[in-house]
Amino acid sequence: MNTNAVPGTRETLTAGSTAVTPLLKVDKVTHTYGSGPAAHTALKELSFEVYPQEFVSIVGPSGAGKTTLLRTLSGLLTPTSGSVSIAGKAVIGVPDGMAMVFQDYSRSLLPWLTIEKNVAFPLTKDSGTAAERKALIEESLEAVGLQGFNNRYPWQLSGGMQQRVAIARALAYRPRLLLMDEPFASLDAQTRAELEDLVLTLRHRYAVTVLFVTHDIDESVYLADRVLVLSKAPARLVENIEVTLPEPRDQISTKETETFVQIRGHVARLIRSGGDLPQAS
Ligand SMILES: Nc1ncnc2c1ncn2[C@@H]1O[C@H](COP(=O)(O)OP(=O)(O)OP(=O)(O)O)[C@@H](O)[C@H]1O
Ligand SMILES: [Mg+2]
Repeated sequence: MNTNAVPGTRETLTAGSTAVTPLLKVDKVTHTYGSGPAAHTALKELSFEVYPQEFVSIVGPSGAGKTTLLRTLSGLLTPTSGSVSIAGKAVIGVPDGMAMVFQDYSRSLLPWLTIEKNVAFPLTKDSGTAAERKALIEESLEAVGLQGFNNRYPWQLSGGMQQRVAIARALAYRPRLLLMDEPFASLDAQTRAELEDLVLTLRHRYAVTVLFVTHDIDESVYLADRVLVLSKAPARLVENIEVTLPEPRDQISTKETETFVQIRGHVARLIRSGGDLPQAS
């Protein structure tokens, strides 16, 4: 792969003579909750692809169907029509190699288990011997800056630290695809910025593909190689925006660049219009 190319661009994705196969393929996914007069269509013929090691943000108005989309990707919800595949395999049930991080860390961590046991929780014998699993846990805690916190309990940690534990738990599983649903929405601005930068470091360290749902437009642009903008419900894809910002990203200087300001403005206009904007400026 041409490492000088901008991640997520056509050049990167088709570098060399062979095109790269998408890791995730969402094909005309529609999902309707309920039936009859109470039926609510949350997703409408949604199609997109995510390539190996890409970081793709998803933004859209509240209630658009973003969490519904992640549920269909993780096999927790069967779409009414259309299909989802990972590495060419149809998603039926929870797929291998996928981990999720949710907004509500206080509910996703088990309060009666230590940090180490929380991180160990999803690991099975498939993750290796007991010694190998222990090494995975140690390395994951180190990767999120929580080495030595093994025997604390979630309620002894700050919100930001608890979300670090949730990230460590996802990493210990060594996922190919990491789904994150507004993971930093409950955190203060400073902690949020730190965790954004942590996620950027980790995506490279673990070569993981990330799909990141957020309400925060700055965050969506700052983190991603591409931003997918969804319309108000029923969610359809309004635009696929390449984020042509250089790396490494920096919380201050990246956000001062003309490219960042332009993309942010464009995404904000698309969301404000609910996806009805015929031609965004
Ligand atoms: N289990 C369910 N049964 C019926 N309707 C549901 C269910 N889950 C979600 N919905 C509806 O589907 C729509 C999309 O919900 P979803 O949670 O996917 O939106 P979202 O984009 O994640 O919203 P937010 O930005 O507020 O997190 C909403 O109108 C919601 O009320
Ligand atoms: Mg949601």
